[in-house]
Amino acid sequence: MPWALTPLTEEQREIQKLARDFALAEIAPHSAAWDRDAHFEPSLVPKMGELGFLGMMIPEQYDGLGLDTLTYLLALEEIAVVDASVAVMMSVHNSLPTQMLLRWGTEEQKRKYLKPMARGEKLGAFALSEPDAGSDAASLRTQAVRDGDSWVLNGTKAWVSSGTKGDVILAMARTDAPDDRRGARGISTFIVTPDMPGFRMGKKEDKMGLRASPTVQLVFDNLRVPAENLVGEAGSGFIYAMQSLDNGRLGIAAQSVGIARAALEHAAAYAAERRQFGKPIKEFQAIQFKLADMATRVSASRALLHAAATAKDRGQPVTQFGSMAKLMASETAMWATTQAVQIFGGYGYVKDYPVEKLFRDAKVTEIYEGTSEIQRIVIARELYSQLGSSSL
Ligand code: CAA
Repeated sequence: MPWALTPLTEEQREIQKLARDFALAEIAPHSAAWDRDAHFEPSLVPKMGELGFLGMMIPEQYDGLGLDTLTYLLALEEIAVVDASVAVMMSVHNSLPTQMLLRWGTEEQKRKYLKPMARGEKLGAFALSEPDAGSDAASLRTQAVRDGDSWVLNGTKAWVSSGTKGDVILAMARTDAPDDRRGARGISTFIVTPDMPGFRMGKKEDKMGLRASPTVQLVFDNLRVPAENLVGEAGSGFIYAMQSLDNGRLGIAAQSVGIARAALEHAAAYAAERRQFGKPIKEFQAIQFKLADMATRVSASRALLHAAATAKDRGQPVTQFGSMAKLMASETAMWATTQAVQIFGGYGYVKDYPVEKLFRDAKVTEIYEGTSEIQRIVIARELYSQLGSSSL
């Protein structure tokens, strides 16, 4: 089936196949059990590292594959078709912490942290949100205070994906003084590792979906971070986080396309087998129209995503197109999984069939890395800045 409208190179097809084969062999047989038990499988990290899937866009000089964004997203979609939890681990690692280190890290930080991350020896996580700072990320309160050769951090980070396993966490904290608050410009980025004194794992979330991806709070209680672990310039951490989320949102869009495609594939196969009123239900137009709309929305989401990835690889800013791709793909994933449950009927509502899990997994794509409402705000702001008005 011609899943990608974008013409692919031989290398892209090979990597796509490598990802598909890996997902079918190593993930698919366990996916339902991992979901049931909320189990994160740690052996996936070195296995995916060996295949290069955890250093896809990191240059070879830092032990990555040095591939473009489109190739990375093709592989990510294949993983997401089989298991969205594994896909979010791959997406966060490749899009957020590694890209932050690559872009703003020192040579020493790249040697110490980026290289083992690219090889899959260390898994990355990204800590921006807090219990009281979600969509309004710049209102975060974790405070960092300089003390000699260290920074001392106090606060709680929330909704950290891969949090129980994260070996290298890129965490945002305030470095402005309480009596001289500088808003978004008072935030800095630090490399935090779980072995640092004052680091503690907080609450592990019991989630509706993506249950095999551990999401936790991280508590920094006088956490002592060496001064050399500040990333880039003090006060620029929020901008780094936003620029990284421009990439991250492409990853979540690819994950969403994968979930939606899985819903379509399962629903189409079921509709061909399931007989009611004397014939397979795929022969009813009510079902055909649903499948046709699902296929159309999946293809449109993927086409927008691939166009955004290609623009990024050409060096164009993708704040707006990244948000558009994430918005469209995540709403497609939620919509398509809802249609799939409907096509399965009662069987869609139970765990014996895969679409119940897809439906639960889809929901968070409309929430994390910026809710659909935040994506619309970003898109509208960019629209007005292009029109030369600053009224939004
Ligand atoms: N690229 C570069 N700079 C950017 C930027 C971008 N995409 N977005 C904002 N900035 C800059 C602005 O230009 C501004 O810079 P100046 O100080 O020079 O003017 C600065 O950042 C502050 O920007 P805003 O005034 O626009 O900030 P704001 O407080 O109004 O917030 C927002 C903007 C878009 C709503 C932002 O807060 C946002 O994206 N919120 C959602 C947060 C989010 O996505 N969180 C997800 C966390 S990760 C996660 O989900 C868990 C996981 O692990 C998967």
